[in-house]
Amino acid sequence: MKSMFSNNAAWLTKAYGKLEVKPAPYTPPGENEMVVKNHAVAINPVDWYKQRVGNFIFSWVKYPFILGGDVAGEIVEVGKRVQRFKVGDRVLAQALGMDRNCNRAAEGAFQQYTVVRANLAAPIPDNMSYERAVVLPLTLATAACGLFQKDHLALEYPSVPPKPTGKSVLIWGGSTSVGSNGIQLAVSAGYDVITTASPRNFDYVRKLGASQVFDYNSPAVVQDIIKALKGQTIAGALAIGAGSTDACLDIVHNCEGNKFVSMASAPIGFEAMPDRPGFSFKIFPLVLQLLRANASLRRKSRRRHVQTNFIDGGTIANNEVSRVIYEQFLPRALAEGQYIAAPDPYVVGRGLEYIQEGLDLQRKGVSAKKVVITL
Ligand SMILES: NC(=O)c1ccc[n+]([C@@H]2O[C@H](COP(=O)([O-])OP(=O)(O)OC[C@H]3O[C@@H](n4cnc5c(N)ncnc54)[C@H](OP(=O)(O)O)[C@@H]3O)[C@@H](O)[C@H]2O)c1
Repeated sequence: MKSMFSNNAAWLTKAYGKLEVKPAPYTPPGENEMVVKNHAVAINPVDWYKQRVGNFIFSWVKYPFILGGDVAGEIVEVGKRVQRFKVGDRVLAQALGMDRNCNRAAEGAFQQYTVVRANLAAPIPDNMSYERAVVLPLTLATAACGLFQKDHLALEYPSVPPKPTGKSVLIWGGSTSVGSNGIQLAVSAGYDVITTASPRNFDYVRKLGASQVFDYNSPAVVQDIIKALKGQTIAGALAIGAGSTDACLDIVHNCEGNKFVSMASAPIGFEAMPDRPGFSFKIFPLVLQLLRANASLRRKSRRRHVQTNFIDGGTIANNEVSRVIYEQFLPRALAEGQYIAAPDPYVVGRGLEYIQEGLDLQRKGVSAKKVVITL
């Protein structure tokens, strides 16, 4: 049967290729899924990592593929067992496409119609635009995985209003998109948040609820944070950004409390990969550097008696954290203004053709901004 919807996508047709806008199949939803007609999508670093680093990461992905982890739009079809949503609802959703256990282009964000899991979606408040709402899902899930999953920091769950725990959490990299969500989630879960950012973003992270902020470029930052945490009980650290785990291991080692660092980022960035399309031999020294840095972090965590675990934002789909966040907490917290959709969207343009430009822009680096494309 011919579908009533005709779909187009920004395809990654081969490793190291540029995105190409072409027709894509329209895929109807499975039992617990729904199809969203996307009005806005957002860019995450992993999208350009995959484009630039090829099969060295997410090696299960077969080409052509559709990248992208964040959508906001209107539901056009719901699966048989979906009860929380109906056709016409405005939702934000985490697109699971590239996740190892999903690995399905139909669930990638960079197309007009995306299949999403109902448990990774939340209603958008009436007064919020799609461009603003779409900044949330993937990095919200990443922060939630690190803070709340039982194999990570296992913090108390967030609530409206927050219930104070009397404990502190360190969020290294508070002005990143993951950090902006991490700060707000930890505050909503009743923790005092200490964070790092560049001085231009000090007011921004304070507005999100951090009680103290330190410049991660200062040579004294580790000692300063250890001093600030004296006499407090730490519930662990969420490490975001290159170099963050190393610093967090030193800090948590010197604090009372939960000796655990939940890691969002690889120890080195992929910014050194060249701009031009196609394979580059630069990947080999980078991979070597990455292996060495990981081995050194493992040694340090053993020496410091601090546990670590690497975050995979997609895993909340398989445990109760997705229900806590997307169903119980976020809709109410957004409606009551306890949670804001941060960082601010930086809208690059309208149409799938702008997604490649969005990837290039996110790769050059943004500060407290989420790169967004209107569709
Ligand atoms: N594991 C997962 O599932 C997962 C999912 C999503 C993201 N991530 C990772 O999480 C990290 C953040 O992603 P994002 O999308 O939130 O990034 P983003 O918003 O693009 O990050 C931009 C921000 O990074 C900050 N920054 C730059 N270098 C830093 C450093 N060395 N330490 C701390 N902050 C630094 C800058 O802060 P200032 O402007 O204040 O200097 C800037 O505001 C990336 O490494 C990404 O790969 C992991």
